Amino acid sequence: MKTLFIERTMARKIGVALAGAATLMTAGMLMEGTASAVGIADTKHNLGSPAGTGATATFTPTAGSGELCVFCHTPHGSDTSASVPLWNRVLAAPTTYTTYNSLGTTSLDGATAQVGSVSLACLSCHDGTTAMNVMINQPGSGGYNPAGAAWAGTWSGTGQTLGVLGSATSITRIGQDLRNDHPIGIQYGGGMPAGGAYTTADIAAGALKDTDFKGVKYASLNGNNVWWVDANANAARDKNDMMLYTRTGATSVNKDGSAGPVLTGDQAFVECASCHDPHTSAQPTFLRMSNAGSALCLACHTK
Ligand code: HEC
Ligand code: HEC
Ligand code: HEC
Ligand code: HEC
Repeated sequence: MKTLFIERTMARKIGVALAGAATLMTAGMLMEGTASAVGIADTKHNLGSPAGTGATATFTPTAGSGELCVFCHTPHGSDTSASVPLWNRVLAAPTTYTTYNSLGTTSLDGATAQVGSVSLACLSCHDGTTAMNVMINQPGSGGYNPAGAAWAGTWSGTGQTLGVLGSATSITRIGQDLRNDHPIGIQYGGGMPAGGAYTTADIAAGALKDTDFKGVKYASLNGNNVWWVDANANAARDKNDMMLYTRTGATSVNKDGSAGPVLTGDQAFVECASCHDPHTSAQPTFLRMSNAGSALCLACHTK
């Protein structure tokens, strides 16, 4: 019983329907009463061949077998310019992007940092500038190119044009102007009441500068500070919570786009993956939870 649970959790986590685990997953899910699979294979983020259910863009390599993870992760030689796990794509300079705060809404009180962290990783495809088969380490022996090179092959499907994501008029191609998108790279809750770093004492007291936000949970994992907004009955941090991302010593961006002061210490930030889990097929549009009744919005905003 225990083995079954562990195997199913791991399979979910890596999002791979291993042949053996598939049977166990089905058995486990029937017991839980859950109907659908939750793996990346059955999402639009399956760019590999063969494509799973829901895939729109499919890449067929000239040589070698199709892979799934390689479009985003590599086991060796990854880009370390932003804190994203084993990233296999070259990341753009943060200053390439225009941030939401330059729109100038008077209500915005959190400091914005230069685009970074996991958001920079999402934008390496979603800004629509680089083809999705341009990667650092291609599958097989000797395919390493730190500047990024195109893995030879052909694209088919609707989610791309010559391997570049989306079309100029689609929302999927978010572009480099982020003024019309929900703010990312921004302090949660307007920052701490006295400014500065997010401190455990302030978090414990439920203090945020902007009281229109739900409280933050904090834990120290392997000596790193992590924050999240609890979005379900499970008090522990899990992937269906609204994740916040640690930025340390981030440079802020002024409204006019110029570099502002460096933010003090550890900061808890909202990024693309606060709301999206890039591996899940459990919710449409990769959301961490259902947005029925705007539940996802209300998980953070007190409105
Ligand atoms: C479309 C891009 C994309 C693909 C494809 C992808 N990942 Fe990820 N993965 C990400 C991003 C982005 C993150 C960081 C998410 C975060 O910080 O919350 C991540 C995080 C992870 C993590 C660490 C965090 C966690 O959720 O446990 C693991 C492990 C992981 N991916 C494994 C895989 C494996 C295995 C595959 C292939 C079966 C895969 N990923 C395919 C984008 C992708
Ligand atoms: C992970 C937490 C989180 C979630 C989920 C979330 N937001 Fe936000 N939202 C923020 C933060 C933080 C800000 C920046 C607020 C500030 O600094 O004033 C923000 C800003 C905004 C703003 C701009 C405010 C301004 O003053 O310009 C709007 C509008 C907004 N959110 C709407 C939404 C909607 C609609 C949803 C659901 C689709 C949503 N938010 C989901 C955290 C979240
Ligand atoms: C390797 C390229 C790549 C990366 C990196 C990537 N995506 Fe995507 N994403 C795609 C493709 C391809 C589609 C499908 C586009 C289409 O069909 O129009 C897509 C679609 C989506 C969609 C829309 C799904 C739907 O049902 O319409 C969301 C949401 C999304 N991605 C979020 C993210 C987030 C968040 C990240 C980072 C955590 C990310 N993506 C990273 C390639 C990527
Ligand atoms: C505050 C929460 C939040 C953040 C942060 C956020 N998104 Fe989304 N995103 C959503 C929601 C909610 C939807 C679904 C909107 C809908 O149903 O039309 C969505 C939809 C999308 C879509 C699909 C659009 C479509 O209609 O085809 C893409 C692509 C996407 N997000 C990518 C991103 C990327 C990339 C980032 C970071 C730059 C990001 N998102 C940041 C909440 C968020």
